[in-house]
Amino acid sequence: MQAWSHACKKAKQRIGFVPTMGNLHAGHLALVDKARQVADKVVVSIYVNPTQFGENEDFDNYPRTELQDIEHLKQKNVDVVFMPDSSEMYPSDKAINYIAVPDFATELEGLARPTHFRGVATIVKKLFDAVQPDHAIFGEKDFQQCLVVKHMVAEYGLAIEVHAAPIVRDADGLAKSSRNQYLTPEQRKLAPVLYQTLLGARQKVRAGNLSYSEIESQSIEFINKNGFKVDYFVIRDATTLGVPGETNRVILLAAKLGIPRLLDNLRVD
Ligand code: PAJ
Repeated sequence: MQAWSHACKKAKQRIGFVPTMGNLHAGHLALVDKARQVADKVVVSIYVNPTQFGENEDFDNYPRTELQDIEHLKQKNVDVVFMPDSSEMYPSDKAINYIAVPDFATELEGLARPTHFRGVATIVKKLFDAVQPDHAIFGEKDFQQCLVVKHMVAEYGLAIEVHAAPIVRDADGLAKSSRNQYLTPEQRKLAPVLYQTLLGARQKVRAGNLSYSEIESQSIEFINKNGFKVDYFVIRDATTLGVPGETNRVILLAAKLGIPRLLDNLRVD
């Protein structure tokens, strides 16, 4: 991988990189399109990273559909599909040098999944070292992940431009996710309530008549009434994830519908 990248650099070709865990859908493929726009060569990695899964999470059952994924990527004329195995990414699995994550990584997704973001930061750094990209594309679907990656890039002073691409949704508003396939048909019918509630909350924030906490609790109540169990629904500053001011706000949510836990978010301004 590094030899290929060095040859590109010598030829003054810019590399755009899309890291994934496979089981690709239109959300991932939109990131590939973005990479194509900003770079000359496109690399996609497929690696289900064990260190970002908690003990009771679905690492073993994570859908692995490599042949199908490669077909999709061929259609997109991707230059390299990088599929390392764990002996390469974690050669000494007893002594992993985890990358420290910022404080905001212990909140929201980090609260539900305490070791998740250090696993993400660690594997993304390792993938960046292998691929040596000029541009890296992540989805805003995982809003907090984008911020953790940007923090890591700044911390190491990497010469990589990180792009956060918009969320790709189904026609009814549900954000595309590999977890959606675990919804029963009845649950799938309920799922658009998440996006609808985000849109409603954004309108209320913009109208300015209610406090942020009133908007949050009304939204939680509405989603729970529709059969979900909300984990969090919060209005935050889109850069720090701290207390929001009057601009640069984002609304973030996680909710369980049966077993699947769905994430979504919406920028206010
Ligand atoms: P994965 O869940 O496979 O997602 C790969 C990329 O696709 C992430 O940047 C994610 O935000 C983006 N993505 C997923 N659904 C999307 C949607 N509906 N719209 C736009 N983008 C979407 O995220 C990971 O893998 C891993 O944590 C990884 C970064 C690869 C590190 O292991």
